[in-house]
Amino acid sequence: MTARLIDGKAVAATLRAEVAEKVRAAGFTPGLAVVLVGEDPASSVYVRTKDRAAREAGIDARTIRLPADTSRTDLLGVIQALNDDAAIDGILVQLPLPNGIDAQAVIEAIDPAKDVDGFHPVNVGHLANGRPTLVPCTPLGVMKLLRVTGIETSGARAVVLGRSAIVGRPMAALLLTADATVTIAHSRTRDLPAQCRGADIVIAAVGRPEMVSGDWIKPGATVIDVGINRLPDGRLVGDVAFESCREVAGAITPVPGGVGPMTVACLLENTLTAALRRR
Ligand code: GUN
Repeated sequence: MTARLIDGKAVAATLRAEVAEKVRAAGFTPGLAVVLVGEDPASSVYVRTKDRAAREAGIDARTIRLPADTSRTDLLGVIQALNDDAAIDGILVQLPLPNGIDAQAVIEAIDPAKDVDGFHPVNVGHLANGRPTLVPCTPLGVMKLLRVTGIETSGARAVVLGRSAIVGRPMAALLLTADATVTIAHSRTRDLPAQCRGADIVIAAVGRPEMVSGDWIKPGATVIDVGINRLPDGRLVGDVAFESCREVAGAITPVPGGVGPMTVACLLENTLTAALRRR
């Protein structure tokens, strides 16, 4: 069997068009501030992508670039000014921050109503209680991919590989709210392959190139690859060994063109959601 390909690029394009249409209908222009501290090359690319996508959707995007040696006080001052700016509906601080700046303190300074990344403890708490408000973009995008692909989550056994605050933990919370039976596996989990073989849905978000191989996958299972890893030879691969898993899985996301485009589309949707609530 060869797995069905889940075309995240196409699903994301549809979602972006829907957001653009709703922005046109809203009668005002939502504002998004993207804050980039330092010059991490991957972060610079992500920030440019987010800024451009927001503009294409009719959102007034502003990218605020700050030097790597920006002090915590100055960064918190920038956040406060954005909190106070009525034209700004969404604030995103690109992670990771340079060494020496406490990311958690910065996240906690963002007005939860403008926290389009869904990282503020208030929003994390709502998500943990099954009452999601602003939800982290990558796991939200994964849930949308499962939905449009017709993958049943209710009663399904789901294994989430990785326990990060950005993907693994919120992913598990969303799957639980969608009535899956959820296991969070991580670097200390015993017999990772056996955990995965019991799963109807495997979500890989560990940042280790091609770690998940086909013999970890139950025939017909759904495999979602959140990883983006650059190999020394320049190739871009996920956390899943794509060719071996697609022989076994029922449905699988490619890298690139799977989860990545959904993250950006969900950021636009979150910005619109925040704007409609605030105004
Ligand atoms: N770095 C990697 N992923 C993300 C994300 O979803 N949001 C932010 N702000 N930074 C990230």
